[in-house]
Amino acid sequence: MTTRLVIANWKMNGDLALIDATVEAYPQVSKVDVILVPPSLYVAALLAAANDRFQVGLQDIGRHDGGAHTGELAASMAAELGVAAVIVGHSERRADNSEDDAIVAAKAQRVLEAGLMPVICVGESIEERQAGQAEARVRAQVQAQAENLRSRLPVAIAYEPIWAIGTGVSASVVDAVAMHRAIRSALEQIAPDHADEMRILYGGSVNAENAAELFAHVEIEGVLVGGASLDTDQFAAIIRAAGAAQG
Ligand code: PGA
Repeated sequence: MTTRLVIANWKMNGDLALIDATVEAYPQVSKVDVILVPPSLYVAALLAAANDRFQVGLQDIGRHDGGAHTGELAASMAAELGVAAVIVGHSERRADNSEDDAIVAAKAQRVLEAGLMPVICVGESIEERQAGQAEARVRAQVQAQAENLRSRLPVAIAYEPIWAIGTGVSASVVDAVAMHRAIRSALEQIAPDHADEMRILYGGSVNAENAAELFAHVEIEGVLVGGASLDTDQFAAIIRAAGAAQG
């Protein structure tokens, strides 16, 4: 059985009060891994409040080791603080900051070098899905990470169809499972020795209502939750659904 991984991506939302509220509502659940990913400014406060119940991540990282790059953060700094994971290649960053696969690969490499787990986001646009190109697009995004995936270090892939993010329209479970299988087969081709150690997460309008249905499928090894992670009761319900998942 795979221990499910639940990641909360607060994006550019939240405040110190949300940290208190999330900790207060945090459920007692075993057999689930949870990583809370606030805006970077709140990482230290969240780490101080974690008390070993959850881990803390970053939403992005600089693609350089350090040096004269005003405004950027280095993966080594995150490691020093106790951060566990870094999201790279989220579609909002790909769109807002023109991050292409090469930039995403460089960032994932910095994260691995610092001993942290990259959560590499992939996903197709609505146009690509309608044109029947969703799987090819996602496979290409995974392939672009081949060198990082061969590193033998912990990596998670988050499948996030762009049209499902923040829209309230989740991918159907059938479509999500099919894409997770396609990603799994791409991982097995790239890193046959250790592909089974990588978890594949689904993201895109996950909420308290659809979480249990998603977790009913062994292919959905975790979720990346945006909007619903800002609602502390809903987020607690998603963690409980992950903990209750069989298989
Ligand atoms: P959403 O965001 O849950 O609000 O759709 C998911 C994400 O962007 O990671």
